[in-house]
Amino acid sequence: MQDRVVSGHSGAEAETEGTLRPDRLKEYIGQEELKEKLSIFIEASLARQEPLDHVLLYGPPGLGKTTLAHIIANELGVGIRYTSGPAIERPGDLASILTNIDDREVLFIDEIHRLSRPVEEVLYPAMEDFALDLVLGKGPGARSVRLDLPRFTLVGATTRPGMLASPLRDRFGVLLHLDFYHPEELAHIVDRSARVLGIPMHPDAAYEIARRSRGTPRIANRLLKRIRDYAQVRGDGQVSLVLATEALELLAVDPMGLDQVDRRLLVSIAERYHGGPVGLETLSAAVGEESGTIEEVVEPYLLQQGFLQRTPRGRILTRRAYLHLGLPAEPELTDE
Ligand SMILES: Nc1ncnc2c1ncn2[C@@H]1O[C@H](COP(=O)(O)OP(=O)(O)OP(=O)(O)O)[C@@H](O)[C@H]1O
Ligand SMILES: [Mg+2]
Repeated sequence: MQDRVVSGHSGAEAETEGTLRPDRLKEYIGQEELKEKLSIFIEASLARQEPLDHVLLYGPPGLGKTTLAHIIANELGVGIRYTSGPAIERPGDLASILTNIDDREVLFIDEIHRLSRPVEEVLYPAMEDFALDLVLGKGPGARSVRLDLPRFTLVGATTRPGMLASPLRDRFGVLLHLDFYHPEELAHIVDRSARVLGIPMHPDAAYEIARRSRGTPRIANRLLKRIRDYAQVRGDGQVSLVLATEALELLAVDPMGLDQVDRRLLVSIAERYHGGPVGLETLSAAVGEESGTIEEVVEPYLLQQGFLQRTPRGRILTRRAYLHLGLPAEPELTDE
């Protein structure tokens, strides 16, 4: 699972991602509605010389949340401090980050759904009043003092917005959802990345990579790099449509961007459970993947593409999935 070429999660290439990251909103491709809203909020806050309201970015892995957080800081012309939910172990850790922040700076908390409750409690007054409540002393003599903090913008990112405590969610003024990209947008991203990396590529090849990238820029960039390797060794370095298709076949990424893991999941629902419904845990045992991974990484794209349906009784395979897999469909199937 870790080395899955179509996984939205970042793998070994995490360090090199920086080079492919757009720095400004106008270089950020796709997510048009989100960009329009964000640019208005940024412009307004700049005009008022106030910090931007706290922003929550949510959506599947690899769609550009971290990239956007950096862009927000750049557009505001301020610095960014980077941390993540699991990295802040104790309330004191967060308190020290908050007291060291500069006025109007961006504090980026990745995987914000993984903050512990005591840490969240520190965040509430910080977000709402730019204040830190400290308890001095112990026992009956203890007293609470309020410390003023610099006014900052919290940018939180999560792949699991449903796991966020509602008092935390309510304290974000701007909620932005990232959606899977259209193939045209991804082709644009592939084209841009190829230019940055100096890979000569035909537009048809860019589009083919885009089509097989599950709507996810991180996957598009990863496929591009593997295809570059292939072109270097098996070709003359040029990426044509024929060469890209060959390389993608070698990587076992099918024309819809599905790989063995996806196909194993779909085929197992078809063959072992007559198309479902089948519960997540049962499915997880059947395909040997963790249920969290299935829910967060594998399923979202299959659901979005209409291969799978989530029902209260479990997962159901659609007619479209049977067609794609080339399997005979169960008689009483839905079309969604
Ligand atoms: N709109 C975009 N235009 C161009 N490149 C993009 C865009 N969105 C993402 N990318 C590229 O995709 C890669 C992954 O993006 P990013 O790390 O921001 O995703 P993420 O949503 O933070 O993922 P995760 O949930 O795993 O943290 C980056 O290298 C970036 O270059
Ligand atoms: Mg990220």
